[in-house]
Formats: sequence, C-alpha cells, structure tokens
Amino acid sequence: MPSPISSLPTSVRIVEVGPRDGLQNEKVNVLTEQKIHFINLLSEAGLPVIEATSFVSPRAIPQLSDARAVMAGITRRTGTNYPVLVPNLKGMERAISVGIRSVSVFTAASESFTQHNIHATIAESFANFRPVVALARQEHIAVRGYISTVFGCPYEGAVDPQRVLHAAQALLEMGVEELSLGDTIGVATPIQVMEMIDLLIQQGISVEQIAVHFHDTRGTALANVLASLQMGVSIVDASVGGLGGCPYAPGAAGNLATEDLLYMLHGMNIKTGVDLEKVVAATSYIAPILGHAPSSKYYQAHQAACVPDIGT
Ligand code: COA
Ligand code: ZN
Repeated sequence: MPSPISSLPTSVRIVEVGPRDGLQNEKVNVLTEQKIHFINLLSEAGLPVIEATSFVSPRAIPQLSDARAVMAGITRRTGTNYPVLVPNLKGMERAISVGIRSVSVFTAASESFTQHNIHATIAESFANFRPVVALARQEHIAVRGYISTVFGCPYEGAVDPQRVLHAAQALLEMGVEELSLGDTIGVATPIQVMEMIDLLIQQGISVEQIAVHFHDTRGTALANVLASLQMGVSIVDASVGGLGGCPYAPGAAGNLATEDLLYMLHGMNIKTGVDLEKVVAATSYIAPILGHAPSSKYYQAHQAACVPDIGT
C-alpha cells in the first residue's frame, strides 16, 4: 500500500482569486488604483496565477466594472498569469482587447444557482461558452472552467456527483484545459471530496486538469485540500486574507485563505514558490480599505504576535 505521505505532490500551484472572487463580494468601493496596488503586491509575493478581475456585466458585478483599467494598470510579472472571468463572447472580446492571455468560464452543477448567477440553464451556459472557448483556442488563450456548487447548492441542497461529471465532461469536450471544482457554500467534507475526485479520475479525466476551490464556511477547507492532495490534485485556489464569497450564494463565507494554505503546505514541505510574508503584506494593505478583519487564521495569529503584550 502506498504511504499517505509519499502520495502527496511535491509542489502545488496556487491560484490566487482574491482580487476577483474576494473583491466582487465587498460592499466598500475599492478604487481602481487600490486594486492595482493590491494586485502588484500579490505579484511581488511570487504567486504563479492571480485571477485579477472579471469581464462580466457591470450590472451583475458593479465592483469589477473597472476591469479594463485594472488590467491596463497592473505590472505583469514574468512567471505570473493573470486570468480573468468571462461569461460570454462580449466579455471575451473585451478581454482580448487588453491583451489577456488566459480566461475562465463559469457554470455550476445545479440549475437554480446557474440561473441566479448567469441567468441561464446549465445547457445554455455551455452553448454560450462554446464560441468563447473556440475563440480562445484560436487566439492561443488558455481556458479554465469553473464548476460551482459541486458539493452543495444554496437553493437545492445536495448535488448529485453525476451532474458534476456531466459538467466536467462538457467543459473538457469544448476545449477547456483546467477544471476548478467549487465548494461555493463551504459544505464539503474530505471523504465526499475524495469520492468526487475519484469519480472524475475513474471516468478518464486527468488529475492534472483538476483544481479545487474551497470556501471555509464550516471550517473544513484545509481538511478538504489535504484530501484533494492525497488524490493527486496539485492546483489549489485560495484568496488572500480569506476574502470573498459569492453574491449569488447567500451565506457563503470567505474562500480558503491563501496564508492558511501556504502555512500548511510549507509546513508539509510542499513547494509553492510563494512568499507567505509578502502575501500577509498584501492583506495588511487591503484590510483597512475593506474595513473588516480578514478571516485568515494565519493573518490573525501574525497580527496578534505583532501587538505588544499588554498582559491579561
Ligand atoms: N461585459 C460587459 N457587459 C456585458 C457583458 C460583458 N461580458 N455581458 C453582457 N453585458 C451587458 C449587455 O451588453 C447588456 O447591456 P445593456 O442592457 O446596456 O444592453 C446587459 O449586460 C445585459 O446583457 P444580457 O446579454 O441580456 O445578459 P443578462 O442580463 O442575461 O446577464 C450575464 C447575463 C452572464 C452577462 C450576467 O449575468 C453576468 O455578467 N453574470 C456574472 C455573474 C458573476 O460574475 N458572478 C460571480 C462569479 S461566480
Ligand atoms: Zn470562491
């Protein structure tokens, strides 16, 4: 029997989603130049992938309506990819016009969520993405596909893993290169995660194409990451400070915090190429702008350690 330790990957690619998944859910109006500085700080931390913004309808996500100015303003670090979310051809064309080299399309495993999020059925979402992915391939732009509500839906409750498989196969068939499995409302537990990944692998999907995206609503995100690593997954989404949630998923708490993930991975001797203290610096910059304490446990411990002990 293989050792549970030797089956772990030696390195993990972190996909930083804070500037998009994090900021899209914030009430405060973050200025364009603040977003640019925030993304630049994340670049300096050596993150290999920073999902920078969304080219979606400004009415759907007003917080990211300055996508064009953000992408024009950031300093693109060699070695970092800056994908953006696109829901349709209009978004794709806007993205291409500012030189984007990688995009993400997004659907879900449950109908009601898809309806709330992108005003489409799951089948319609595939029909919308097909020309987007075709155009991306023609332009040699990489495409990731998000599947939300993989482990549970805010409107429908439990989600049949077969529906996830169906969505995964449909996205891969149209030319999407990487899948991100989203626990949008943070309900997953480790065995469920292992069974889901196992189902995809058993059906011929390469584990190299699978990323995981956990929300820490019920405190299971890191346990779910570990379960995913044990299944061979080596791409993990996280959000600086634990920012985020989804405006169309009531009650969804923040994403797994990048700092907490880095602390665990580095402690396990798994390489990421990311400087944890520089990620903390990015959180320290954005937190006062957002006006609430970041949920990252590592960040909180770090701040507590910096405060002089006044005794209890
Ligand atoms: N970029 C900019 N504007 C866009 C756009 C895009 N990618 N897609 C649509 N629009 C505009 C249209 O031009 C139209 O504007 P108008 O009324 O001034 O003419 C308006 O948005 C509505 O367009 P329509 O095609 O009717 O779309 P819709 O209202 O059914 O919305 C989506 C569908 C997918 C565009 C919208 O729901 C959306 O952007 N959702 C994103 C949600 C999201 O990002 N969620 C978080 C990620 S999990
Ligand atoms: Zn998320």
